[in-house]
Amino acid sequence: MLQKSNPKNDNIQVFIKDKLYPRSEAKVSVFDSSVQGGDAVWEGLRVYPEGVVCLEKHLTRLQESAKTLAFVDIPSKEFIKKAIKQTLDANDMNDDTHIRLTLTRGEKITSGMDPRLNQSGSCLIVLAEWKPLVYDNDHGIKVISTSQRRNSPQFLDSKIHHNNLLNNIIAKIQANVAGKDAGLMLDERGFIAELNGSNLFMVKNEKVVTPFAHACLPGITRNSVIEMCKKHDIEISEADITLSQFYNADGVFATGTMGELTPVVEIDGRSISKDDSLQKKIISLFKKEVRGLCEKLD
Ligand SMILES: Cc1ncc(COP(=O)(O)O)c(C=O)c1O
Repeated sequence: MLQKSNPKNDNIQVFIKDKLYPRSEAKVSVFDSSVQGGDAVWEGLRVYPEGVVCLEKHLTRLQESAKTLAFVDIPSKEFIKKAIKQTLDANDMNDDTHIRLTLTRGEKITSGMDPRLNQSGSCLIVLAEWKPLVYDNDHGIKVISTSQRRNSPQFLDSKIHHNNLLNNIIAKIQANVAGKDAGLMLDERGFIAELNGSNLFMVKNEKVVTPFAHACLPGITRNSVIEMCKKHDIEISEADITLSQFYNADGVFATGTMGELTPVVEIDGRSISKDDSLQKKIISLFKKEVRGLCEKLD
């Protein structure tokens, strides 16, 4: 699955640091920490007419990721919300929109790794694009397990939503080479972690299981699915899960803000049904309830 450029995004306005720029002028300095070391944190947000899905949770994760990385001037939620609203209003966007929200450590006085070189303050980027759900959620996706392991806390804590995405990108390259839609990443012990850009769930014998969030991003969609299952008395638990268990599941689905809930119909050449009744129920419940998770910006 390769995303296409959308001509509706040709002339969008992008918020950088303190104001809006047209797309053609929306740039950061070559001295910015994101260019120098991938030293930034980010969130993906989805916008519906009802608001931004789980906005508070996303802003909390952005701020907590920045705190872990010892950013010294983390913008307030109020500032970030104003920047998001300004950007959406300027682009007349209130539906079918995805926002890539990035906070970099800012510009350095000279190239180098040391955060003390960042003396101009952090830099917030609000990149809002017309972008409906990216996966084909009717037909599902095919994935392949990759040799690239997902970070556990002893390397780089996956709870930080940072811009050092190279291990996930290598996993995605392996999937591309194999002609599949996404790369499945194991943790350093060989248990399932997640796909390169989304979390994983499996259904077996009327129960739902998802990997512990030890070596995956504790996704906000993942959390919404867990909460939704509990609300509807669907048995759900976290566990160490192996590839063999996933191959033999009644259903497997991926979760993320970009694609919401997506059936996984093949792992390493083993077919997985997308017709499991419990899985279908969860996917349709989420579709119904996602608008209720939206938060207004005003
Ligand atoms: C590696 C990874 N896993 C999972 C997710 C899904 O997280 P969320 O549901 O918060 O969008 C993302 C999204 O950014 C991601 O980058």
